[in-house]
Amino acid sequence: MKADVVIGLQWGDEGKGKIVDVLTPNYEVVARFQGGPNAGHSLEFNDKKFVLHTVPSGIFREGTINIIGNGVVVDPVILQDEIEKLEVVGVNVDAKLQVSKKAHLILPSHRMLDAASEAAKGKTKIGSTLKGIGPAYMDKTGRNGLRVGDILLDSFKEKYEQLRQKHIGILKQYEGFNSYEKDLAAYEEKWFKSIGRLKRLMLVDSEHTINKLLKQNKRLLAEGAQGSLLDMDFGTYPYVTSSNTVCAGACTGLGIAPSSIGEVYGIFKAYCTRVGSGPFPTELNDEVGERLRAMGKEFGATTGRPRRTGWLDMVALKYAVMISGVTKLIMMKTDILDTFETIKIAAAYRVDGVETEEFPYDVDGMEVEPIYREFKGWNQNLSSIKAEKDFPQELKDYIAYIEQETGVPIYLVSVGSDREETIIR
Ligand code: IMO
Ligand code: MG
Repeated sequence: MKADVVIGLQWGDEGKGKIVDVLTPNYEVVARFQGGPNAGHSLEFNDKKFVLHTVPSGIFREGTINIIGNGVVVDPVILQDEIEKLEVVGVNVDAKLQVSKKAHLILPSHRMLDAASEAAKGKTKIGSTLKGIGPAYMDKTGRNGLRVGDILLDSFKEKYEQLRQKHIGILKQYEGFNSYEKDLAAYEEKWFKSIGRLKRLMLVDSEHTINKLLKQNKRLLAEGAQGSLLDMDFGTYPYVTSSNTVCAGACTGLGIAPSSIGEVYGIFKAYCTRVGSGPFPTELNDEVGERLRAMGKEFGATTGRPRRTGWLDMVALKYAVMISGVTKLIMMKTDILDTFETIKIAAAYRVDGVETEEFPYDVDGMEVEPIYREFKGWNQNLSSIKAEKDFPQELKDYIAYIEQETGVPIYLVSVGSDREETIIR
């Protein structure tokens, strides 16, 4: 059996949590392949809302196996907190969750390094979620990192201490070291307690587990975090996250061969948002942007920060579709546009005076002006619609344009945050 992949095509927060939850009845295994607690995947059902950071979004469905893959970075404190919240609502996490021994650990000092680095950058800061993601991946690629499997070793404390000392040495070079040192001591206490909880989970060689499950024809859904424009290689560097968020990340982050990838579901919002710094060509710094933020409740699920908002960007969307070979598109938050008289999509850019449909090298350093195409709004409440035949013509036109430009069918349209408010075409 081939593995299907769900990825975000914009700057994150596309609604991956909801979609994985909606799709899981068709899957037996759900696996996260990159990122860490910088992610905030929201799910809503039975009038309740949950936000997951590290745990795969298949956890609520009966009988699913949920795997945190080798490509993920894990903060045991945040993981424990998530697990406890799930247990309160009756989810048997110990029976359903497996963690790769090769996943890297986010140390308390990684969090401090993240904070120190961002503070030192001043105006040019990334707008990181400050969860220690960047420093943890730096130690992974720098070959210094600690992995989940290391917690089982007798030498774990020693290895920890070694890395900690290295981090302290770096932290000393930053202003405000004393306060970082204090925060570090406080977080360390919690951290070591939660290592105890992590030890009680199923710690596995997930690449073997996953390939065996695929051989047994089990259906697996790989759940991405962040979005394609935050990808380490293809995003708006340096305003990106520290992992590969595109489809290829599922291969390296889970140990799945490229030839074993099936459907690639690409998720995008009917408009655009970005949280944190960095270029955003279609950003609206006016009442329209304000209205999108208010209607779409665009505030970060992980940090609570207000999200920047703007129109859908076809140049960026086509780029993301290309990099990941998306086979099915999923359009989210379509209902947020219900009351807009006119809806715009950036069909091309004018970069330093030249018109292009290609996403440029440095969106930040160049003058990028979106060239918009206007659409008539549907001015109708979509959330009560149950079938495609009831779509207003204006929405059909909007969908047809996106499908024609990307060359990929829109498989699913979301018209509200609840599981039920989803139309499969
Ligand atoms: P989900 O999975 C939106 C952004 C941060 C910052 C940049 C780098 O919920 O879509 P990092 O903490 O990774 O060093 O931050 O990436 N960012 C996200 N934005 N959704 C996310 O995850 C994000 N994870 C990171 O705001 O600009
Ligand atoms: Mg989010």
